[in-house]
Amino acid sequence: METLRLFLRHLLSVYFSLYGVVSQYLFPQFPKLRRRFPIFVPVVDKFLSFYFTFNCNLVQSTVDLDDQTTMHFWCPSHRKFSKPNLIMLHGYGGNSKWQFVYQVGGLADSFNLYIPDLLFFGKSHTNRSNRTETFQAECVAAGLNRLGVERCSVYAISYGGFVGYRMAEIYPEMVEKVVIVSSGVGCTDDQKWEQLKSVGVGVADLLLPEKPAGLRRLVQLSVHKCGSLKWAPDFTLHEFIHKMCNTNRKEKQEMLEHLLTNKTERNIQSLSQEILLIWGDKDKIFPLSFAHHLQRDLGPRCRLEVIEDSGHAANIDSPESLNALIKGFILPCEV
Ligand SMILES: *[C@@H]1O[C@H](CO)[C@@H](O)[C@H](O)[C@H]1NC(C)=O
Ligand SMILES: *[C@@H]1O[C@H](CO)[C@@H](O)[C@H](O)[C@H]1NC(C)=O
Ligand SMILES: *[C@@H]1O[C@H](CO)[C@@H](O)[C@H](O)[C@H]1NC(C)=O
Repeated sequence: METLRLFLRHLLSVYFSLYGVVSQYLFPQFPKLRRRFPIFVPVVDKFLSFYFTFNCNLVQSTVDLDDQTTMHFWCPSHRKFSKPNLIMLHGYGGNSKWQFVYQVGGLADSFNLYIPDLLFFGKSHTNRSNRTETFQAECVAAGLNRLGVERCSVYAISYGGFVGYRMAEIYPEMVEKVVIVSSGVGCTDDQKWEQLKSVGVGVADLLLPEKPAGLRRLVQLSVHKCGSLKWAPDFTLHEFIHKMCNTNRKEKQEMLEHLLTNKTERNIQSLSQEILLIWGDKDKIFPLSFAHHLQRDLGPRCRLEVIEDSGHAANIDSPESLNALIKGFILPCEV
């Protein structure tokens, strides 16, 4: 399994570079054509689906919660009662597949994985006007209910952390343990503004880039060991932006606005569950001081683990360490 995962990682890297080189030679004169017929992102996307299905034994499931809202999940093809259920909540930069590609292989052996696309990402959508993370949390929980999940632990990264926190708060009888990674949940207005000033760009410009340069900036800020995007040609980034940021851009902007301006949902209290916070020591989006602050707010059942040489995107910088910490925290100790 491990070998296969490493193999996949190399294959992806090789594919990236090969594609970059080949396409620079093949289509330098036809930038418009390339933009109209994206190749790179759909191919990787298919490849990821293939990997989730055949290497990780996951299947896709789409649940209509009502006539307005649809939630899409990756779930186990064969759910084993001997394994705990783990819900994985992605952040702003991705969806169920792109966010967790380096981690699912290592976690699928130990858990029944349920990986939703949050509303307005991937294949989940609502026609309702609610943009709150409480609504996201309710929709994830409602989807899980339909899939027959009664008890679960939650692992949430970045924006997912806001949703995961609310799930744990609203459904204490459902959510057993919570892992929050690199998330701004619970940060105060002062922290937020100070951080925004130090980053030097607007949040929407940062998290929903419109140009390749913006995407490079986001990756540079969030991935500490940033290598792969240096040589990625602009048009692949255009494709990525088109798929990831432009789909439901308006709704995603409204969600950000809600996150930044609406105070009603800001309050954080200690939870009844055990919580593990995991932070990269080089996180430039939500620096380590946020983690200490959050740990204080979440009370005595909250522990903090710091991963060295890891940035905001700990899932890219240190997927193995992250998986080991998650397993150590959630799995019952083996005697
Ligand atoms: C939202 O509304 C459109 C048109 O009214 C409809 O086609 C679509 O299925 C709805 N979406 C969901 C998730 O129900
Ligand atoms: C959004 O949904 C949540 C959860 O259902 C609810 O508490 C809140 O009042 C709603 N907010 C708006 C603005 O509709
Ligand atoms: C903020 O909350 C108020 C009241 O719940 C709601 O009317 C408004 O639409 C919300 N704003 C955003 C951007 O979600």
